[in-house]
Amino acid sequence: MTKDNNTEVFTFRVSLVDTSGNVIAEAEEVTLRQISKMNEFKKNAFYGTNWMLQPATIQKTQNVQGNVLVFCDQGEYYARALAEQIQHQDSRLFFVSIGKKFSQIDATQFTVGEDEEDYDKLLAAIGVNNLCSVYHFSTVNFTRTDVSAERYGEELHQGLYSVVYLTRAILRTIRDSVEFVLLTDYAHEVTGEEACIKPANAAFLAVAKSTATEYPNLRYRCIDIDEATDMETVLDEVLTENPTFRVAYRNNQRFTEALTVIEQKQESMREMEIKQTGVYLITGGTGGLGLQMAIDLGNRGARTICLLARKALPDRSTWQTLLSNRDRKLSTLIESILYLENLGCTVLLRYTDVSDRVQMESILSELKEAYGPINGIIHCAGMAGDGFLFNKNMNTFRDVVRPKINGTVVLDALTRGEKLDFFILFSSMTSLLGGPGQSDYTAANAFLDAYAPYLRKKGIPVQTVNWPGWSEVGMAVDYQVADAVTLFRSLETEVAIQALNEIIKYDLSNVIPGQINYDILQQIGENNLPFRLSPWLKKNLDRHISRHNTQKKQVAKQTIAPEDIHIIGKNDNYTTTENEVAFRYAVVLDLREIDIYESFNSLGGDSIHAMELLKEINAIYPRTIDITDIFTHSSVEELAGLIDKKRGIGKEQSDDKAVIVPDYKLSDDDIMSMLDNVEKGNVSSFDEAIKVIKSNK
Ligand SMILES: NC(=O)c1ccc[n+]([C@@H]2O[C@H](COP(=O)([O-])OP(=O)(O)OC[C@H]3O[C@@H](n4cnc5c(N)ncnc54)[C@H](OP(=O)(O)O)[C@@H]3O)[C@@H](O)[C@H]2O)c1
Repeated sequence: MTKDNNTEVFTFRVSLVDTSGNVIAEAEEVTLRQISKMNEFKKNAFYGTNWMLQPATIQKTQNVQGNVLVFCDQGEYYARALAEQIQHQDSRLFFVSIGKKFSQIDATQFTVGEDEEDYDKLLAAIGVNNLCSVYHFSTVNFTRTDVSAERYGEELHQGLYSVVYLTRAILRTIRDSVEFVLLTDYAHEVTGEEACIKPANAAFLAVAKSTATEYPNLRYRCIDIDEATDMETVLDEVLTENPTFRVAYRNNQRFTEALTVIEQKQESMREMEIKQTGVYLITGGTGGLGLQMAIDLGNRGARTICLLARKALPDRSTWQTLLSNRDRKLSTLIESILYLENLGCTVLLRYTDVSDRVQMESILSELKEAYGPINGIIHCAGMAGDGFLFNKNMNTFRDVVRPKINGTVVLDALTRGEKLDFFILFSSMTSLLGGPGQSDYTAANAFLDAYAPYLRKKGIPVQTVNWPGWSEVGMAVDYQVADAVTLFRSLETEVAIQALNEIIKYDLSNVIPGQINYDILQQIGENNLPFRLSPWLKKNLDRHISRHNTQKKQVAKQTIAPEDIHIIGKNDNYTTTENEVAFRYAVVLDLREIDIYESFNSLGGDSIHAMELLKEINAIYPRTIDITDIFTHSSVEELAGLIDKKRGIGKEQSDDKAVIVPDYKLSDDDIMSMLDNVEKGNVSSFDEAIKVIKSNK
C-alpha cells in the first residue's frame, strides 16, 4: 500500500485468492480516497420549498369553448360566479356535487357518490364530446377549520378520490385535451399566518404532479386560496390565459412555490436526549429505514423500542436457522433485533395496520401500561407507489395512501395528550416532484407534508422529512431505484441518520436532506419542474450550465468587496480564515452568497476557477495549499480548516506540516495539463501529476 502526501489517497495492489490460496485475479493501483462522512453530510444542505410573492400580470380571461364540468358543493359561491363569467361564451356548463350516490337532478345538475362508476355515469350523461375544462371547487370550505379523524374519509372523497376517479373516467373515454383547475383553501402553509392548514387538500392537489406527467393531454392547475382573497382575484387566476401550474393567494397576494436552501437556525437548536427509560415507537419498524432508526435509537441509549408492521416475523424458535437463510432482508431483520437485544433493549414486535384505530389504541395502551408514556414516534410505515393512474388497481392506490394518510391521523388522534419528544413523519421528495406512476405515493406524502404545519400550528412538535432515496436499505433498493439518477442524490445510511439527527436537533420540518444533482436539474429544465428555483439556486444552475457551455473559457469576474458577501452555513461566528477563504470563493466564482459547507464543485467551480482560487489564496496565505487541496478540501470550511491546521492555528499543531509546494515553477499550461490529468483520473495524486509534467519536459 502507498499513501500520498495529503494523507487522503491510499493506493493498493489487490490479489484475489480462492479458498485454496490460489491467486485468481490481481489488480494494480486500486485507489481509495478517504472521505469523512460527517464532512460529507455538512456539505449537503437541506432543501425545501418556500412560497414566494410573485405578482403576475394576469392576461385577459380565457375564452372557454366546449363543455365544462364544475364541481361545486361548498365551492358553490365560486362556481356560480364562474358560471356568470363564462356563460355567454361558447360553452355549456354542468354542475356536480358530491353526495351519496349518482343522480341527475336536471339537465345540468348532477350528484356523484363514492363509487368510481359514478364518474363514468356522469360522463355518459353529459356526453363526453367536447369536454374542455373541469373546475373542481368542491373542497373549498371556509367554515371548516379543522377535521376530526372520523371526517377525513369524507374530505378525501370530496377531493383526492374525486379527481382520481374523474381523471380515470376521462382517460377511459376521451382522447382530447382537457384542462383541470383544482381550487382549494389552506392546502399549504404559504405565509405562516394561516389560521389552519388542510392536509387532505394538499393530497388532492398533489395528484396532479404525477398525472400531468403521465398524460400530456390532461393539463392541471392548482390554486390554493384563503378567505381574505377576493372572488374577482380568484376568478382572474382561474381563467387566466397564461397559467402557472401551482399558485397560492393569501390576502389577494399571489405566491408561487420555489425550491430553496433551508438553513439550520441556531435559535431553534435543542438538545434532544434519548431516554433510557423512554418508550419509542417506530411504525414500519421492520422495513429498511425503520430498522436503521431502531438501531440508531438503541445505539443512543433507548431501551424500549416497539417495531410495528403488518406482517409477523417467523416464530422465534426458527430464527437461528433463518439467520443462515438466503433471504437477506429477513436475516438482516433478525440480526438487527438480536443486536438491539444484546445492547440491552427490549424490542417489542407488534403487528397491525397502522390505520386500524382500534388495534392501534390497544397496542398504545398496552405499551403505556407496561412500559410508561411514549417518548418518540418515527412514522415510517409506507408502501411504494407503482403504476400509471389509468391502469392502477384502486386497492393498491388505497394501500399506498392508507398508512400515510389514515395512519398519521390515527397516530395523531391517539397521542394528542402525550408529551412527545419527537414525532417524525417519513415523507419523500416525490411529494414535491411527482413523477409518472407515483400518483398515490405523491398524494400520500403530500398529506404528510401538510400534516406537519397543521400540527405545528397546534404546538405539536411534529417534523416531516422529504427523503431522497436511501442507497443501501429500504424500498428504493428493493425497487432498484436507489442508484437512479434523480434531482437529489441518494444518501448512504450513515449520512441519512446524521441528517435526521440534525433535523431533530434544529427542529427542521419539510426538508430534503441531500445534494442537488445539477446535471439532472439541467436535463429536466427549470420550466419543467412543479416549482421554480430560488434566485440562489437559479444562479447556481445558470453557473452550472455556463460551466458546461464554456468549459475552458475564462469567466470575466466582477470586482466584489468583502461586505458584499453573505456567508451562510452556520451561525455568525466564522473564523477569520473562513471569512477570507469565503471571500476568495466569492470573487473567483462571482457569487454574492457562499455556503461554507458547499463544495467548490457544487458552487460551480471548475479547474480554471481552481487555478484562480489557488492564486488568490496563495496571495494571502503563501505556500499553504496546493491545487489538489481545492479538490480534496473543497468547501470553505474544509479549506479554511486545512489552512489553519497547516499554519498551526486553532487546533493542535499539525504533524503533517510538510506542505506540498513544488520546488520548481509551474507554467499555466503545466497546471492545466496537471488538472486535466487529475480530473480525468489519469493520475491519482498531485505528485504523480508533477512527475508526468517533469517527464514530458
Ligand atoms: N427507502 C427510501 O429510499 C425512501 C425514500 C423516501 C421516503 N421513504 C419513506 O420512508 C418510509 C420507510 O421506507 P422503507 O424504505 O423503509 O420501506 P420498506 O422497507 O418497504 O418498509 C416499509 C415498512 O412499512 C410497513 N408498512 C407498510 N404498510 C403498512 C401499514 N399499512 N401499516 C403498518 N405498517 C405498514 C412494512 O411492513 P409490513 O409490510 O409488514 O406492513 C414495512 O415495515 C416510507 O414511508 C417511505 O415512503 C423511503
